[in-house]
Order: sequence, then structure tokens, then C-alpha cells
Amino acid sequence: MALFQSSTRTIPVAPKVPRHVAIIMDGNGRWAKQRFLPRVAGHQRGVECLRETVKACGALGVEYLTVFAFSSENWRRPADEVSFLMQLFLKMLQREVAKLHDNNIRLKVIGDLQRFDAELNRHIQDAERLTANNTGLTLTIAANYGGRWDIMHATRAMLKARPELLGSFSETDLEPYLSMHYAPEPDLFIRTGGEQRISNFLLWQLAYTELYFTDTLWPAFDRAALEAAIQSYQQRERRFGRTSDQLLGDQLPGDKSSNSSINGEQTDA
Ligand code: IPE
Ligand code: IPE
Ligand code: MG
Repeated sequence: MALFQSSTRTIPVAPKVPRHVAIIMDGNGRWAKQRFLPRVAGHQRGVECLRETVKACGALGVEYLTVFAFSSENWRRPADEVSFLMQLFLKMLQREVAKLHDNNIRLKVIGDLQRFDAELNRHIQDAERLTANNTGLTLTIAANYGGRWDIMHATRAMLKARPELLGSFSETDLEPYLSMHYAPEPDLFIRTGGEQRISNFLLWQLAYTELYFTDTLWPAFDRAALEAAIQSYQQRERRFGRTSDQLLGDQLPGDKSSNSSINGEQTDA
């Protein structure tokens, strides 16, 4: 049973303010280098930017914010940088979770958590449990996450739970096992830092997401930069495979089919 509208099986609602924003927070190292600081100073500053972005998203009415904190390929970095990032993640959980909870924010962590140590895993579990019933913004941190890992992991988990599906299964069968099953597909994807690539982030979920790339380095990304991204999103025509004329037809007065789900798919209205 799909909780949210799939962009390939239905024509999802295209909200004016994105319900779900997904961000690749890139450029920390370069930001630090420009200031003759060690790379890790950029990561430290990046946490502050994340705090501001969470606040801004809440204020703007975004419901889901998903951020890429550590990719499955980031283990390839120098050991001391990896270890600093792990420490920073742990500290962030220790320092920020109570505040997130006070602000009614639900925290989720997605990715292959087996590679993290027991202490970090315990903090992740505690934070998720504490905030599970919060009804404000859902903040998802992707850590040791890879889009390919997600799809492979979901497929394995699905076949383990439902072996009868071997040989024939559908998107609807697979989706509950994907790590972002609790959220609609992102409306807006933002990558800071100037690179124009997905770097193995949410491969499945970004199928029809509007992509926005900015040269602004993550530690310099502020509320104005977020608003610029949302403004760009608001100028996009989200066709989901249809023609422009069909969309205009949709907007005729009294046309109740506008932005509606097709194929009788259950929505989360
Ligand atoms: C993103 O910034 C943070 C992580 C990948 C953890 P980078 O560390 O990739 O910064 P640049 O791209 O080297 O500037
Ligand atoms: C992507 O940034 C991952 C995160 C921001 C966590 P990278 O800096 O690792 O990506 P590439 O290597 O430039 O593609
Ligand atoms: Mg980078």
C-alpha cells in the first residue's frame, strides 16, 4: 500500500512550497581552504548552516528536509577526516536532539548504519525514538547512505519477507522497503558547492524531482539562498511526462481533475 503518490504511477500534487527538500551539502572543504583553515573547520561550520536551514524550512512550511551528511563513498577520504566527521555526527546528536525535540521535529537517519560504532548507533536509536511522534518537520540525515545501496537493500529485504515475489514484483511491492518509505518523493533537490551531479544520493526518489545547483558553498548557504532555490522551483513546470498544453488544460476553471492522482492510487491526503 503506497502512502504517498509515486511520480511514475500517478501524477503527484505539485505543491507551491516544496513539501520535501533534499540537499547535498557540498563545499565544506573548499570553504575552509579559501580561509586557510583545515577542511574540518568547514564541516563544523556546516552544522551551523544545517541548524539554520532546519529553522528556515520549518518557517517556510516545508514538511520534509533530507540532507546528505556522509555518502557510502566518503569512507575513501583520509582516515582523520572520516573520524572527525563521525565525532561531529555524535556530538551533533548529543547537543541538538533535545532542541529538535522541543521544536516538534522528527529525526530520522537513513543509510547502512552497521558500519557505525555501537555508541553512535545507540544515540541514533535514542534520538529517533524520542522524536518519533513529533508532528513538525521531519529531518532525515543520510549517513553512510548510497542510492544504489538503498535499492539493493530494499530488494533483498522485500524478497526475504515475501519470497513469493521472486520473479515478479512491482514498484508498489518494493517501495515500503526503501529507506524513505515514510516520505513523499522530494519536490526540490539542492546541491551546493558547484558540482552538478547526484553522487549516489536518492536515486530512486529523485525520479521527477526538480534539480537546483548553486555555486554557493554549503557553509555559506543561508536563508536567502534557500529562498532563491525555492523561487527557482516555483518557476518550473512540472509535467511528469505530459505536455505543456495538457497542464494548461488542467488549470481551466472548474476542472476538478487538476493535480489529482490518477490510476486510483491511494494518497496521503
Ligand atoms: C561536503 O563537503 C561534506 C561531506 C562530504 C561530508 P566536502 O567535504 O565534500 O567539501 P568539498 O567538496 O571538498 O569542498
Ligand atoms: C556528496 O559530496 C556527499 C555529501 C555531501 C555527503 P562529495 O563531495 O562526497 O561528492 P563528490 O565526490 O564530489 O561527487
Ligand atoms: Mg565535496
